[in-house]
Amino acid sequence: MARIAHLSDIHFGAHDPRIVDAATAWLEERRPDLIVISGDFTQRARVEQFKAASAWLNRLRAAGLKTLVIPGNHDVPLYDVVRRFAAPLERYKRYISHDLCPFYEDEAVAILGLNTARSLTIKDGRINHDQMDMLRARFAAVPPGKTRILVTHHPLFAMPIGRGGELSEAVGQHEDAIQAACEAGVHLALAGHFHRTYAQAARKMVERSGGALVIQAGTATSTRLRNAEPQSFNWLHVRRHNEIEVQVIVWDGAGFQRASHVDYRHDGQDWQSHDVDDPPTVGEDVARRAGRA
Ligand SMILES: [Fe+2]
Ligand SMILES: [Fe+2]
Repeated sequence: MARIAHLSDIHFGAHDPRIVDAATAWLEERRPDLIVISGDFTQRARVEQFKAASAWLNRLRAAGLKTLVIPGNHDVPLYDVVRRFAAPLERYKRYISHDLCPFYEDEAVAILGLNTARSLTIKDGRINHDQMDMLRARFAAVPPGKTRILVTHHPLFAMPIGRGGELSEAVGQHEDAIQAACEAGVHLALAGHFHRTYAQAARKMVERSGGALVIQAGTATSTRLRNAEPQSFNWLHVRRHNEIEVQVIVWDGAGFQRASHVDYRHDGQDWQSHDVDDPPTVGEDVARRAGRA
């Protein structure tokens, strides 16, 4: 069993310090086996924002917590055009991590993070074919019983982002990326970017999903909210490669509370949810419980 806290879209520079402190305290108390942070550490990739993000990460690491981190599109400078194209992730590498495609493995899980942030697009992401080859190669060496988890900032899959069910853009070259994830036997696909919480069986969202369960994290600490959905992060208990519990931990204005809780089991064909009748409403459930919907 692995206990993983999945946070995303921290956005130092547009963050609420009270919420950052509460998230830090929560993590230090619960002590996950791994903290996954799926990008957007800063609001505008400014040095002082990276310094704040770095200090926060160092505090978590000093507390003995392990982290797996990847950049997001906000970690690439937007207005500094020279830096944007000449050295888009130089500051990220200096202050956060040199490794843009980190890999973590323990006795229960194997986790690969892939950088999807690019200079050429303002907010859309992309996975290239070298990364797809890396995805196949990394997981090819993993024993079959372990849960294979892929982390990207931009979701591999089109995600419902509006109240009317309209879909987002999926990551660039997503059909090839999904094929690679399928061949690599990915069980879980974690992402952020849209500041919405969503957990849904990938097979219900795209035809060639490879059977991965897609788990979206909201923004953990940013003040920029979508549809007034409150800040949240996910607390994953990976029991086996075919059994996972997803808890959404939500900011209620005073502290982080457990909001919704879904068990997923893979029946050999697809992920099935238990305890919640209608998993697509997970994000709405969070907002309702926090009294904002
Ligand atoms: Fe973001
Ligand atoms: Fe983003």
